[in-house]
Amino acid sequence: MNIAVLGYGTVGSALARRLADSTIPNLRLTHIFDRRAPLKRDARLGDVVWTTDVEEIFASDAGVVVEVIGGVDPAREWIRTALARGKSVVTANKQALAHGLRDLTTFACRQGRQLRFEAAVGGAMPIVRAISDAMAGDRVTSISAVLNGTTTFVLSHMEETGLSLDAAIDAARTRGYAESDPAADLDGSDASAKLIILCAVAFGIDVTLSAIETRSIRELTARDILSARRSGHVIRQIASAAYDARLRALTAWVAPVELPRDSFLARTRGVENAALVGCQHAGEIGLFGHGAGGDATAVALLSDVLAIARDPAALVPAPVLVRPSIVTGLTARTVVEEAV
Ligand SMILES: NC(=O)c1ccc[n+]([C@@H]2O[C@H](COP(=O)([O-])OP(=O)(O)OC[C@H]3O[C@@H](n4cnc5c(N)ncnc54)[C@H](OP(=O)(O)O)[C@@H]3O)[C@@H](O)[C@H]2O)c1
Repeated sequence: MNIAVLGYGTVGSALARRLADSTIPNLRLTHIFDRRAPLKRDARLGDVVWTTDVEEIFASDAGVVVEVIGGVDPAREWIRTALARGKSVVTANKQALAHGLRDLTTFACRQGRQLRFEAAVGGAMPIVRAISDAMAGDRVTSISAVLNGTTTFVLSHMEETGLSLDAAIDAARTRGYAESDPAADLDGSDASAKLIILCAVAFGIDVTLSAIETRSIRELTARDILSARRSGHVIRQIASAAYDARLRALTAWVAPVELPRDSFLARTRGVENAALVGCQHAGEIGLFGHGAGGDATAVALLSDVLAIARDPAALVPAPVLVRPSIVTGLTARTVVEEAV
């Protein structure tokens, strides 16, 4: 199976290294597309075509295109074009999916190709496959999760050091865990995009970003963290969704929440992610793992590539998505005072 990678940044370069070093038989990295490909060329990757012309990827004999460019467009359009040109696609791009999951999964299915996106939610925490495969025999009723590694790092760093939010953000930037503008992380839109993908996979519903109420962690102070700590709590950015299929009623929000220190989600540190998935028959299932970082995210991408390589002709049915009739967000209470 020949593999082409779109985007040679943090994740794309980690994946390319894994593919080049990999002892996994039958996978071959053949093409890398990046707008600065000539500057990024790395001889250690061996005999790879480096290009700034995306058409060269579509015209290539790659069976799988891995999209790790990020952002909505042109990434969304390129995913579609790759599918149209007969390639299966693996992506880590939650923004493109949050704005086009229904269209892209339906199109992939119509083309008889696969679109896999484990890396788009939770990095190396395998929540998409867990829900869509391992829990396929159950009905998922709720998801409560820590889905943003940057905010987990910032909040756990504040706990450990007593630093202010701004100082903890600087520490996250220094370690490469926060972008120069971390607004999407702090204000919850990154976690909302991931929650939209999970709502589609878990409940079969189509939600828009604007339907998910979000509250930022920006207002939190070192004093808030300390007072939570004194009462045996920690604060984490929680993404929550619960769906009543009978009423077609969804409750979905992203907000900072006080959690008992020994609870499952509160154990996240650094860039860890965690999720509790409530199922009708199996009860609650917990997942935990590194939510960010090139190497960790490359694991999820590589696993999706391997799934396609194992069975290139597999049909992955597009989820039949319905719109919820009722959508509610947070209650009026201050979320930071509300322990889950
Ligand atoms: N980083 C993580 O820990 C992580 C975890 C999970 C998921 N993801 C997702 O993985 C994707 C990639 O993230 P990343 O951290 O690797 O981003 P990144 O470091 O910014 O890499 C993106 C790469 O794509 C190139 N690029 C961007 N737009 C392009 C365009 N229009 N044409 C050609 N090349 C373009 C960039 O070039 P320049 O160098 O010139 O900007 C860069 O090399 C995103 O969707 C992100 O949400 C990332």
